[in-house]
Amino acid sequence: MEKKSWYKEMAVYQIWPRSFCDGNGDGIGDLWGVYSKLDYIASLNVDGIWFSPLYPSPNSDYGYDISDYRSIHPDYGDLDIFKKVLDGAHERGLRVFMDLVVNHTSDEHPWFVESKKGKDNPYHDYYYWRKGKGKNSPPNNWDSLFEGRAWEYDKDLDEWYLHVFSKKQPDLNMANPKVREEVKEIMRFWLDMGVDGFREDVITYIAKAEGLPSAKVKLPAATGMQYYTNLPKVHDYLAEFKRDVLDFYDCFTVGEGPRMEPSVALSYVKEGPDKVLDMMINFAHMEADCFITDFLQRPFKLTKLKKAFTKWQKEMYGKGWNALYLENHDHPRVISRYGSEKYRVESGKMLAASYLFQQGTPFVYQGQEIGMINTPLSSLDEYKDIMTKNNARIARSLGLSKKTVLKLAQKASRDNARTCMQWSDGKNGGFSETQPWFVVNPNYPEINVESQLDDPKSILNFYRDALQFRRDNPIVIYGDYTEYLPKSEQLYVYERSYKGKKLLVICSFTEKPVRFDAPDGVTLSEQAQVFGNYDANFVISNGFTTRPYEMRVYYFDA
Ligand code: GLC
Ligand code: CA
Repeated sequence: MEKKSWYKEMAVYQIWPRSFCDGNGDGIGDLWGVYSKLDYIASLNVDGIWFSPLYPSPNSDYGYDISDYRSIHPDYGDLDIFKKVLDGAHERGLRVFMDLVVNHTSDEHPWFVESKKGKDNPYHDYYYWRKGKGKNSPPNNWDSLFEGRAWEYDKDLDEWYLHVFSKKQPDLNMANPKVREEVKEIMRFWLDMGVDGFREDVITYIAKAEGLPSAKVKLPAATGMQYYTNLPKVHDYLAEFKRDVLDFYDCFTVGEGPRMEPSVALSYVKEGPDKVLDMMINFAHMEADCFITDFLQRPFKLTKLKKAFTKWQKEMYGKGWNALYLENHDHPRVISRYGSEKYRVESGKMLAASYLFQQGTPFVYQGQEIGMINTPLSSLDEYKDIMTKNNARIARSLGLSKKTVLKLAQKASRDNARTCMQWSDGKNGGFSETQPWFVVNPNYPEINVESQLDDPKSILNFYRDALQFRRDNPIVIYGDYTEYLPKSEQLYVYERSYKGKKLLVICSFTEKPVRFDAPDGVTLSEQAQVFGNYDANFVISNGFTTRPYEMRVYYFDA
């Protein structure tokens, strides 16, 4: 039996602030905009908001390069409006989670600026400064995930600093106890203000191997990864943060852990004395149409998606809690990937049902709830995301043509998720009265919040209803999980069961008709159907033939 906790019962809405809603008319999303949308967010039947970084940042990686951890980016507002948003959210029963990015800071953070001043500067050891192996030769052969090698040379110091992401994101030296005290102070600062927890950015990277050894095997653009991913010290640091800070608050933490198996996730989140995080965001199910990164594309394979889903559902069950998502600011829109733009509404609801009824805490990313789709830009120069630029550069260096690389970016870029939120069919999609900082998908007259609010058949209202159903029926939260037809490349069918009840979810991932027969012991009846994305839900001989991207959910006594 699962131990009950508020974080298991909640659902979370993610806001990427720059593109959510412009409240002061400068073309950039901000906290005044968020404030004006709190009723809307609450109306989605979510219980919390995760803010992608709101802090001051030079925006090399749009907020994931922080130059001040205790303040708000002037583009987004200030601490006063943040507190107003926080109170307003709490009044509506919404908890608020901050993004905690402590694997690295911005190179413009005062700690880094100080650290550069000299080897005896008290901040020098806040980062990984090392001597090179000779002129023009960095301390080891690690790659950065965002731009070339993971080291940058400083002439005055004659030393190199480590950056696993961009040059403007130097890695913090978490082995230094002073750095860990700083992290604790940052946590206390926000928790004391009333924030309810953290999403911890690439938290599995925060420890680096002793001696920073060179890797024997080279990996394309990821050499050295094994020396900074999931080292045992990560647990020690997180246990320390928990013991010294988090245990004093009624808060929750979700870590982000790229390339991770459930067994590894459990080493962090397993119920018991060694638990250091409440949940872990994993990437396995985001690789059903690619290999490791969204840029290495392959045709979508449903069995790959289902294997990942089922593995995490099964292996975490009764031991640790899952974080469920299909979209965030790091991935293209899911309808464009796993669904169908042609059957946008049908596949949008089907995809929602494919994950919202699994066990775990669901995250919904801004725009996902209205079925926003990818926005292909017409030239590589229009892309803003540093990762896209890096991948494009690598692809070009491998000999791919500009045209091919543009095509890749159009499908794979994180910018697909970062276009402006489509609120209405008004100017700039209702995002801003002035020219927005980034594009609005030209489909906004058709796809927008306003047109879906009162339409009972909209994707938006499906999200609301599904999340309300999850609130009302503990089977979704606490039931166990069984998968049917695991080999099917067309249908994803899973069942939850709890206290004599069953919930059967049938999702078609194709526009082709597929015959579905109910599993033994299950009778599909009209009265038992709680959701569907078509009218007229005939059942013939205890089964049916699917319509394009059809989804049905049945709830009955076992
Ligand atoms: C995480 C964030 C991503 C960011 C990276 C570096 O993966 O989600 O947006 O670029 O960490 O901070
Ligand atoms: Ca603004």
